[in-house]
Amino acid sequence: MSAPQLLVRDLAQLATPAGRDAPLRGADLGAVEVVEDAFVLCSGDTIAAVGRMRDLPALDGPTVEVDGRGLCATPGLVDCHTHAAFGGDRVDEFSLRAGGASYEELHARGGGIASTVRATRAAGEDGLRAAVARHRGWMLRHGTTTFESKSGYGLDRDTELASLRAIRDAGGVPTWLGAHSVPPEYGGDADAYLDFALTEVLPDAAAIAVAADVFLERGAFDAAQARRYLEACRDAGLALRLHGDQFTESGAIPLAVELGARSVDHLEATGPDGVRALASSDVVGVLLPASALFLGRSMPPGRALVDAGAAVALATDFNPGSAFCESLPLCCSLAATQLKLAPAEALAACTVNAAHVLGAGGRLGRLAPGYRADVVLLDAPDWRYLAYHLAGDVVARTIVDGELR
Ligand code: NIG
Ligand code: FE
Repeated sequence: MSAPQLLVRDLAQLATPAGRDAPLRGADLGAVEVVEDAFVLCSGDTIAAVGRMRDLPALDGPTVEVDGRGLCATPGLVDCHTHAAFGGDRVDEFSLRAGGASYEELHARGGGIASTVRATRAAGEDGLRAAVARHRGWMLRHGTTTFESKSGYGLDRDTELASLRAIRDAGGVPTWLGAHSVPPEYGGDADAYLDFALTEVLPDAAAIAVAADVFLERGAFDAAQARRYLEACRDAGLALRLHGDQFTESGAIPLAVELGARSVDHLEATGPDGVRALASSDVVGVLLPASALFLGRSMPPGRALVDAGAAVALATDFNPGSAFCESLPLCCSLAATQLKLAPAEALAACTVNAAHVLGAGGRLGRLAPGYRADVVLLDAPDWRYLAYHLAGDVVARTIVDGELR
């Protein structure tokens, strides 16, 4: 029996990144194929065909039809950087920050990440599963059909592993952020904490996670500690990612390039040398403009990175402290208005290039035969409303794995 078919017909437009060889960079990043009066045909969990309505092939077998009039289709959005496994919230700190307290001050006072670590440890495995499922539902309503999530709010063996299982079981791509912060029981001794994490947690974390991540920053882990953590994770078979240059340039880009990391994420503090180094490497720069906005800090140099030839991706950084925001369409708006990326560049950055960061660039992030049948249907006459409709209700429906949601 052939796989069930889903046909979205009479779409105002279909838009997909044109280039196949992710990560896209330079002019390829902004090359989008737009088809007017279009259809998308899904067969099971895979895209079978896309094109103009007049070229729609004769269909055999049962087909569910979706009326696409007034809608535009883009690939399902891929959020390649979130922290969705947490308990509690930081709304009190948010209010203090609104009154002038800084994020780094709150962190130094035992708030910040440490306060979410307390709430996450208290949530238990069931609580974490419920939290991740809830956050996953929020993302889906904003068009995210694939999400990565980091652990990193447990920082003990049980809670880190429970976080990774909760992310995996919710359909997410798990990243072990074992080096997010030094937990309170280590009294600031980052090396002693890493001894524990690499001996007691890494072997089991590596069986669940696909990548490892580290927060290389003043007040978290320095470059030597990040190197030690990442080398051990690489030897355990994990792909490598870094939180780098968020507040200070602390050597994240050279380390990422040297170790062949998949990405360096944040980059708000990256200067011209960092831009050049990233551009001449295969490491993707992941831009997180919602985080810069939420903390009231300067934006990462998105335009300079793209112009220099760097491969960039765009993600939310969804987390309770620095970016309580699950909307990739909003990040596309920020990319256009703050980072000066064209809507086409933003689209590629949160679809095919984000998929590449997750190791899935050949299967996710484009509307083309053979790609996974993940589609966003935009309530818009032009696909660029994805960025244009600031904080708008732009996502009408999503299709995930060939199923209409
Ligand atoms: O990506 N920078 C480090 N980690 C997160 C925020 C963590 C938090 O504030 O809870 C980030 O911004
Ligand atoms: Fe982050």
